Amino acid sequence: MPRIETALTRLLGIEHPIFTAPMSGIAGGALANAVSHAGGLGIIGPGADAAAIRREVAAAGNARVAIGFIAWRLERNPSALAVALEAGPAAVMLSFGAPAPFCARIKAAGCMIICQVQSVAMAQEALDAGADILIAQGRDAGGHSGNVRGTIGLVPAVVDIAGSVPVVAAGGIADGRGLAAALALGAAGVSMGTRFTATRESLWSDARKAAVTGGHGDQTVQTRIYDTLNDPDWPRMFPARMLRNPTYERWEHNEADLEAVAETERTRFQATPPEDLSQRMVLAGEAVDLIHDVPSARYVVERIVAEAILVLRGGAALVRD
Ligand SMILES: Cc1cc2nc3c(=O)[nH]c(=O)nc-3n(C[C@H](O)[C@H](O)[C@H](O)COP(=O)(O)O)c2cc1C
Repeated sequence: MPRIETALTRLLGIEHPIFTAPMSGIAGGALANAVSHAGGLGIIGPGADAAAIRREVAAAGNARVAIGFIAWRLERNPSALAVALEAGPAAVMLSFGAPAPFCARIKAAGCMIICQVQSVAMAQEALDAGADILIAQGRDAGGHSGNVRGTIGLVPAVVDIAGSVPVVAAGGIADGRGLAAALALGAAGVSMGTRFTATRESLWSDARKAAVTGGHGDQTVQTRIYDTLNDPDWPRMFPARMLRNPTYERWEHNEADLEAVAETERTRFQATPPEDLSQRMVLAGEAVDLIHDVPSARYVVERIVAEAILVLRGGAALVRD
């Protein structure tokens, strides 16, 4: 079977240039295992919690997986890094915060460092800190991201400063067209979140997966409202992209009012049933338009590679000599 070989596949010794993003409460060991066994790199997102790290590493079984952290949370609980490194992961991924405080410990453990960045300045900071792989994440992404740069502009700008460090594109990629486009921008692979939320191995409920397969990119919004109600400690520079729902619409034009009663509203919101999606919010990126099924993660990886190969081969036919 033909495959796509890049600097990323060579560096990591993987077959396909595809990561599953570390998504808290979604990308557990089962999803990471499936993606790694399919030839990509599975990244678990257990949070900075020792018990959850051990549980999800165990759930990943014999697969070679990476472990992702939200850097500002890890700063509050740095001992979680030692627990992750004990597991001997393929790499540690850091996102949403300064990577430098952790890089020396990760390197000393002989482990690779993947940094997800949201601007060229953050990319430079990660390179200076010793990142082995960069993920350039545009604001098209599901979940938290920067609020300035889109994927198509950010990726080549990061590639231009990254030298020999492979750059992975994230945000708005869910099919082979997206993988082929990312490669055309100079990326060496893609990291997908929203696409993998709707897979059999994702830890999300069927109701949340159905919200993704029935969702539209036009309905997604990038907002602070999600964090005001879930976790106000999230830095404001990283809003979250989610599907509009009645909770969002209630506060959409009254965010200042929400801030004024944030504590009371948060308590009320967090008492609602976690699967009541008229109240609870579903994180999803712009590429949600492209997701219509809930297959195995292996099928997703194989289909996207096959589609991208068709697109890349078809692209050559556009050229006239
Ligand atoms: C539901 C959801 C949860 C996410 N949680 C995390 C997380 O815990 N840590 C993290 O680094 N990124 C998280 N992300 C962002 C991903 O790392 C990735 O950048 C993003 O999903 C890429 O865009 P896409 O959703 O369009 O594929 C999350 C994304 C989604 C959709």
